[in-house]
Amino acid sequence: MERKQEIMTRIYKAKDYQDLGRKAANIISAQIIMKPDCVLGLATGSSPLSTYEQLIKWYEKGDLDFSEVISINLDEYKGLAPDDPRSYRYYMNKHLFKHVNIDMEKTFVPDGLEPDSEKACRDYNFLIRSCGGIDLQLLGLGHNGHIGFNEPGEAFEKETHCVNLTESTIEANRRFFTSYDKVPKQAYTIGIKNIMQAEKILVIVSGADKAGILDSVLHGPITPKIPASILQLHNDVTFVADEAALGNLSF
Ligand code: F6R
Repeated sequence: MERKQEIMTRIYKAKDYQDLGRKAANIISAQIIMKPDCVLGLATGSSPLSTYEQLIKWYEKGDLDFSEVISINLDEYKGLAPDDPRSYRYYMNKHLFKHVNIDMEKTFVPDGLEPDSEKACRDYNFLIRSCGGIDLQLLGLGHNGHIGFNEPGEAFEKETHCVNLTESTIEANRRFFTSYDKVPKQAYTIGIKNIMQAEKILVIVSGADKAGILDSVLHGPITPKIPASILQLHNDVTFVADEAALGNLSF
């Protein structure tokens, strides 16, 4: 008998940011326990911090083993070195990798220092394929609906590519740099196509300032103007959002 493939979007409500971290970390832990050599797609930014803190706590308690896990990060600023404190490689080392027993050789972030964009992106796509694809992709949600650095208006069918960051993204990231001029204007990001090919997707959303965009992502039209709206078509997506981000959403 043929099994019908159903589109499945789950939405879990978290009390607050800490609770969001626990719930998201539970889902990631389950993935690691079920498949110790899984490929995790990881994100940076403010949203995953409480999730990474919780994963570290469970690792320290002896409940989690990262030794066989492969991680593939979503994106990296073009032009930033791995040891630059504003690079996403630095962020990952600082907030997760150096606290757990992951094999650093199995942690991947796009090479921000590769000046040849085509090569950087080709290599990253090859890497994703050679790892057998992503088992669980963790995503934050940008205020403009971006996921990774897939900005509004870009084609859904792209794989890893070099993007010109939008004004709103540069503005949002400015807090990490001394001035607007210092924020890199380009980044390498895995594409919507890579994200949609992940087996499972976990989106974490926190704060009242994301309530409007979250509503559009979940209930609005599927359009490149709101890149994350494409997730409506993925058949295994879980949203974990705190009360502030869920606002008046009914679900
Ligand atoms: C980070 C990333 C971005 C962020 C998004 C939300 O690797 O790709 O898409 O997830 O900008 O950022 P925060 O969590 O800082 O609100």
